[in-house]
Amino acid sequence: MSNICVIGTGYVGLVTGVCFADLGNQVFCLDINKDRIDKLNQGIMPIYEPGLEEIVERNIKSKRLFFTTDYETALKDAEIAFIAVGTPSGVDGEADLQYVRNAAETIAQVVDHPIIVVNKSTVPVGTGDWVADIISQTRDSKKLDFSVVSNPEFLREGSAIGDFMNPDRVVLGSLEREAAEKVSRLYEPLRAPILITDLRTAEMIKYASNAFLATRISFINEIANICDELGADVREVAKGMGLDKRIGHSFLDAGLGWGGSCFPKDVKALAHMAVLHNSQPQLLQAVMDINRNQRRRVVYRLRKVLGGSLNGKVIGVLGLSFKPNTDDMREAPGTEIIHLLLNEGASVKGYDPQAMENAAKELPKIQLCDDPYQTAEGADALVLATEWNEFKQLDFEKVYKLLRTPVLVDGRNLWDSQYLRGLGFTYFGIGQGNHVNQVD
Ligand code: UDX
Repeated sequence: MSNICVIGTGYVGLVTGVCFADLGNQVFCLDINKDRIDKLNQGIMPIYEPGLEEIVERNIKSKRLFFTTDYETALKDAEIAFIAVGTPSGVDGEADLQYVRNAAETIAQVVDHPIIVVNKSTVPVGTGDWVADIISQTRDSKKLDFSVVSNPEFLREGSAIGDFMNPDRVVLGSLEREAAEKVSRLYEPLRAPILITDLRTAEMIKYASNAFLATRISFINEIANICDELGADVREVAKGMGLDKRIGHSFLDAGLGWGGSCFPKDVKALAHMAVLHNSQPQLLQAVMDINRNQRRRVVYRLRKVLGGSLNGKVIGVLGLSFKPNTDDMREAPGTEIIHLLLNEGASVKGYDPQAMENAAKELPKIQLCDDPYQTAEGADALVLATEWNEFKQLDFEKVYKLLRTPVLVDGRNLWDSQYLRGLGFTYFGIGQGNHVNQVD
């Protein structure tokens, strides 16, 4: 059992802290946001994540998990302090490290015993060294016995608890092997491969992994667009490719492109780092461009099928979160498509099983509906942007009657095209061989 402090109760910090408590450690989760901490202490979760609430409740009860805003309390006995604060990206993609700096400075001010500082936040390569410098400088002549370790996270929203407990690998980077080994002991109960490397390499593994996954998705989306023009079916193409063990099946679902809190931020940040260091990130640039176009293609298709203009048209959008099982709308394809539609003078109706509260704040110009049927009512087209389970088996005869014109754009290839065409719908999937032929 170790004493751990996790700074930041955002998505990553909270899941990390809660799971380490569940593995038997004593964990203090700290956040400067008092309202968030008060709510967590009452068992109210700041995010929707399946399974999280139960684990929090169980570990608060067992007195292994504590939430506080007080650094002194949280760090008093901590042997290991995880920094898991936000690193939002600026317009040029550069990560904003002010919260990481604050956390490092405060650790240096508050702690007087040996401590390992672990970076969980996704930070530019070289940040580990920078954190070490900040701690040393803040202490000035009063030396602190500390080491810095990088431990990138690979948690997917919606399955973060499972991903934490059953990781494919744990990556630890440090210039001091002993410190990395001490952190690795926390993960031993998970029986996953643990890779110990240097600080900068660990930081790079995170960016390279996310950029690679985003590249796979952009790749299959480009293939999907070519399939549309050539009359091939990208779903079968992906299946055929994936059977090759060197390729594999995962992350080959064509759709509206990647969104969320990680891929867009990380690909942009990696490209920015490359440019800063005189490298040309040509592939990363293309990966981002394809992703942007994937949203535009839907709008182009709608414009074309609805008579050349979207002005005055009503479009229903199903799915506002960036993927199922989360209420996170950051860089969600649905949201981006909605902005494009509004710009073209369309009215938009929208529905999501979890993200309605966020949608009320983020999308004040659209009509929020109670269910898919209200979303379809009177609309000129229905766009499926997120593949939530509850959208899989709609009563399409009812949807047909509710729509003003029976147009379906299935942005996730979720529905049965043959059945829907049989009912009389004009149906478009992604990469199913329906020409779009031009995107502006
Ligand atoms: C991702 C990484 O998977 C995780 O390791 C990292 O730590 C954080 O970023 P997450 O953002 O939660 O996790 O979502 P993920 O399930 O990976 O999906 C990312 C995006 O890609 C979603 O918008 C999803 O809809 C899209 N996607 C995924 C596809 O379009 N096609 C696919 O085949 C897979």
